[in-house]
Amino acid sequence: MTDKSPAGAAHARRDEDILVITLDHPPVNALSADVRRDLAAGIQAAQSDAQVRAILLVGAGKNFIAGADIREFGKPPKPPALPDVCNQIEASAKPVVAVLHGAALGGGLEVALAAHYRLALSTAKLGLPEVNLGLLPGAGGTQRTPRLIGARAALDLMLSGKHLSAEAALKAGLVDAIGEGDDALAAGLAYTRRLLAEGAGPRRSRDAAAALADKAAALAEASAAGEQVAKTLRGLYSPAKIVEAVRAAIEQPFDEGLRTERTLFLQCLESPQRAGLVHAFFAERETTKIPELKEARARRLDKIGVVGGGTMGAGIAVSVLDAGLPVVMVEQDEAALERGRARVAQVYDLLVKKGRITTDERDGRMARFTGATTYDALNDADLIIEAVFEDMDVKLAVFAQLDRVAKPGAVLATNTSYLDVNRIACATRVPGNVLGLHFFSPANIMKLLEIVVGEHTAADTVATGFDLARRLRKTPVRAGVCDGFIGNRILAVHRQAADMMMEDGASPYDIDAAVREFGYPMGPYQMADLAGGDIGWATRKRRAATRDPALRYVQIPDRLCERGWFGQKTGRGFYLYPDGARVGTPDPEVLAIIDEERRRAGVTPRPFTHEDIQRRYLAAMINEAANVLHQGIALRPSDVDVVFLSGYGFPRYRGGPMHYADSVGLDQVLADIRGYAGEDPAFWKPSPLLVQLAESGRNFASLNQAD
Ligand code: 3HC
Ligand code: NAI
Repeated sequence: MTDKSPAGAAHARRDEDILVITLDHPPVNALSADVRRDLAAGIQAAQSDAQVRAILLVGAGKNFIAGADIREFGKPPKPPALPDVCNQIEASAKPVVAVLHGAALGGGLEVALAAHYRLALSTAKLGLPEVNLGLLPGAGGTQRTPRLIGARAALDLMLSGKHLSAEAALKAGLVDAIGEGDDALAAGLAYTRRLLAEGAGPRRSRDAAAALADKAAALAEASAAGEQVAKTLRGLYSPAKIVEAVRAAIEQPFDEGLRTERTLFLQCLESPQRAGLVHAFFAERETTKIPELKEARARRLDKIGVVGGGTMGAGIAVSVLDAGLPVVMVEQDEAALERGRARVAQVYDLLVKKGRITTDERDGRMARFTGATTYDALNDADLIIEAVFEDMDVKLAVFAQLDRVAKPGAVLATNTSYLDVNRIACATRVPGNVLGLHFFSPANIMKLLEIVVGEHTAADTVATGFDLARRLRKTPVRAGVCDGFIGNRILAVHRQAADMMMEDGASPYDIDAAVREFGYPMGPYQMADLAGGDIGWATRKRRAATRDPALRYVQIPDRLCERGWFGQKTGRGFYLYPDGARVGTPDPEVLAIIDEERRRAGVTPRPFTHEDIQRRYLAAMINEAANVLHQGIALRPSDVDVVFLSGYGFPRYRGGPMHYADSVGLDQVLADIRGYAGEDPAFWKPSPLLVQLAESGRNFASLNQAD
């Protein structure tokens, strides 16, 4: 038997009468063409080798197999196809055993399901997460899984994309046994020997009949899942296809079911949603590829300080406590500190009430929390995050204090939403230690963390910010200094486009509906009501003195704020929230105010279709994003995508604004902007980068590849 196949992506070695095929394709043993070819060759060779009585499949490194090679999607297919390899494994005349550790996901689990026996180690996480990439399990997963665990459980696995532990997989019937220890090869060999000693032969998932024996019940489960999908996963393409494939598993003979699965898989593969979701997958993994991490290492983080215990300070404290680090919170006085502590405790009490954590876990996290009203309490913190009022003078005073008390080498971070991080850094004698860590609200839940790098910020300070993000399980994106960084800066511009449409004739309710129709969970005015209109109002007042007089200024939001209508928290904003309702209803008085403002501004209202609204909203977003890229505020277009996907509710299946712009065509986006410029040239100024790319036939993706 060969020791190593020529490609080496999967190598076969005999251990007495067992042929061990080791998948060895770092980092995660994804099933690339080389792996598929070597795996197929190993299975084939075993059939004619009289000394081999059984085949053991094992993954090298930390995982069994993470799935199909996602990088191959959208490229010309290379043989052998994965479904064929799985069928070949299943058809083996000699028993095939798979031992699962780490990731056994997607095509990886499908390989295991095609094997005749499955052993899982305690590190294993099993799942069919293809739905997250706009796909369905396309290597027999939709046909074999229901046969093994029934339609309902299979649909749950495939529609949620969730991971199962070894124990849960055993309970569901997806694996046969749980192996001891963490040595996959040793556990797999011992298990295979036991099977051989018991005289076990091939046992094929395609022949498993019990779980689908009650056809009518299984079809009813599929119908129920179909209805659920139509209600909750609206707008997504692949979930309905998953249900259709499971229906085929119930109704059709195995081989016909496989053909149906193939057809449906190819439809998903061709869909723009698949392209958007795969783009999002890789974009999220690109964000840590930044120059500073190449040259510097993170400083040590054992204790975190938080200044300010308001909405953000408390949320940040929870996020840090959840990560197992101690927190010291500093507030202005005892009363404010008590409120800060209460905010933190309230989050945990709610989690206990919902059954998400135990009282012991809550007590453990609260035990790591301390509070103080003097800055000296921060003198042993390795990183201090300031989250006080959004006021430059207050922030400068706080940083001067931090400079006084912080230990040498401590990283000093500001959570400012808009203010100049370079100016804040200069309030200290150590501007190299200062950076922005812009969390999103609620800070313990939202994944996005903009890491704002100032002109003085040292590389190891940046590396420490990224390390904190990793420990807090956040999605970090590097941003440069400007008013609003990446996200809020772009948001301000497309929100302005929305306000202009509102004054020109669209109601806020039309605009919200059009934005939701595009795929956002809520529109800009629902969002404003949720965040609180007072926050934006304060920013507008701050900017009033420096506002470009040539730019149109829509006053409607100010009219609402002047009445104290700040949104949900005051019971009304753009919408009405009677009796603490969380979903707003349209308000005729708001429409009357808008009419009045139109008259004041001399605007004759005109109609906007949902498509008009979406095009202008997106064009404004894309144009400002191009400016952000052009000025180096974001490193790459895919970073902008990640900001909008993880911080602003941009529909993931559209891949983010930059990917979406490419899919529409930059010439089209530019033509729209030039068209709108006829009405308002001061606002609709095409970004130089957009013009350059569109006129040279390039797209944003070409810039991702260039870095
Ligand atoms: N194909 C290609 N590359 C993959 C991959 C895959 N299936 N899974 C992970 N990678 C790459 C990542 O891009 C990353 O590359 P980089 O270092 O160049 O950025 C590297 O492997 C490590 O990945 P992570 O940073 O995500 O490592 P973690 O340890 O945090 O997570 C994981 C590991 C849980 C396996 C996670 O990577 C993951 O969830 N992967 C995707 C799993 C998946 O969706 N599988 C289904 C694929 S579709 C399919 O199988 C279709 C089939 O039905 C026909
Ligand atoms: P907040 O008003 O809820 O809390 C601010 C807290 O800071 C108050 O508890 C106050 O007592 C405390 N404080 C003020 N001066 C202090 C000082 N000198 N020393 C110690 N504590 C002091 O404000 P919020 O919403 O938490 O915002 C804080 C910062 O986070 C601001 O810079 C804001 O722009 C930013 N931010 C806010 C987001 C939001 O959605 N609320 C989102 C992202 C960032």
